[in-house]
Amino acid sequence: MIHKKRSLDGATRESLDRATNGTGTDGTGTDGTGTDGTGTAGAIEARGIVKSFKARGDVLAGRTVRALRGVDFRIPPGGAASFIGESGCGKTTLGRILAGVESFDSGELVLGGVPLAGLAPRKRAPHFRRVQLIHQDPYSALNPTRTVESILRDPLALRAKQTGQSRAWIDGRAREVLDLVGLDPGYVLPRFPHQLSGGMRQRVVIARALTVDPAALVADEAVSMIDVSLRLGVLNLLRELRSTLGVSVLFITHDVATARYIGADGELYVIYRGEIVEHGPTETVLADPVHPYTQCLLSAIPVLHGVEQPGADRLAPTEPLDESQPEDGCLFAARCPFATDRCRTEHPELGHLGGTAHEHACFYPQRRSVVATPLADT
Ligand SMILES: Nc1ncnc2c1ncn2[C@@H]1O[C@H](COP(=O)(O)OP(=O)(O)OP(=O)(O)O)[C@@H](O)[C@H]1O
Ligand code: SF4
Ligand SMILES: [Mg+2]
Repeated sequence: MIHKKRSLDGATRESLDRATNGTGTDGTGTDGTGTDGTGTAGAIEARGIVKSFKARGDVLAGRTVRALRGVDFRIPPGGAASFIGESGCGKTTLGRILAGVESFDSGELVLGGVPLAGLAPRKRAPHFRRVQLIHQDPYSALNPTRTVESILRDPLALRAKQTGQSRAWIDGRAREVLDLVGLDPGYVLPRFPHQLSGGMRQRVVIARALTVDPAALVADEAVSMIDVSLRLGVLNLLRELRSTLGVSVLFITHDVATARYIGADGELYVIYRGEIVEHGPTETVLADPVHPYTQCLLSAIPVLHGVEQPGADRLAPTEPLDESQPEDGCLFAARCPFATDRCRTEHPELGHLGGTAHEHACFYPQRRSVVATPLADT
């Protein structure tokens, strides 16, 4: 069961076989024929997801916070999508909804080709299990009183019970998932989380997610609390898992550079106050943003002095974000340097207004040089 040979940094031959043949030893294939009846198509499709909360805190208590206002997106099997936006714009709420940790008020979620709306909550659970959430903080995601072996054993034992696998299968699979995330099982299994580095801990979190053969990983700021020197390794691991296992990765971040790296060949969604305001292939949106909000986000990326020069049209919002800003018209109108009366009364829908190649929600899309460019050699 345990294959030491690695063909792609951490991927065992058996795992590769399972990814390509859809014939896992646990009976869950990748061809839509899992024995648990969940289907295994990897796509997540969200249609018009709406979520509101009652606000907390002294000032806003009792007010309704519209965390998501009708979010649509699709991520194909093995694909990548990134969501970027300021703090409080609904990124984590979306990730939690996808993983079934949070409910939503309306809209439709299709996981692995199965629409969940018509299913009873009990029947939704197996589908949600195939979307695994990787939290920002690997320290709190792992029980500090348990060894890695014990942490991995629980989900594997449940799985073994469901599929009639033996104790030897559990042991073998624990080693296999650690191997997949580039950790040495012999070193890691007997250790407690505090005996591992932050990067290793996050790999253990990812290994635990892999125990259920997920169709998608939702990585919510998954490297922001890891030492900078270890971040690239974890990002590379997520990229590898896409190609070796066909897992889709949805990356949630406020860091544009991270979104660019992880989702270079995927889709980028720019979210503002619970609404997608710009969307398209990652490189296209980052190279050629047309929505003023995206342009403000890109303008805020620090410039490498002596190496780059700032974009000539750099923008900043005219006001800080304030949830009490008007909701009539464009949600960004109160902060937008280009807002007109129309913007304050009419709501721009996501589309290709102005004949743009990718989608945006602005009445006046315009290309602007907001991204820093390399300084010419002197
Ligand atoms: N359980 C909750 N109860 C009340 N309000 C909530 C709850 N969860 C989220 N919110 C509110 O919903 C909005 C979106 O929050 P969310 O955490 O999804 O944003 P975010 O984009 O992930 O922000 P950050 O970048 O800071 O992580 C915020 O206004 C937040 O205060
Ligand atoms: S619609 Fe108007 S307010 Fe909204 S982003 Fe475009 S220019 Fe700015
Ligand atoms: Mg968040």
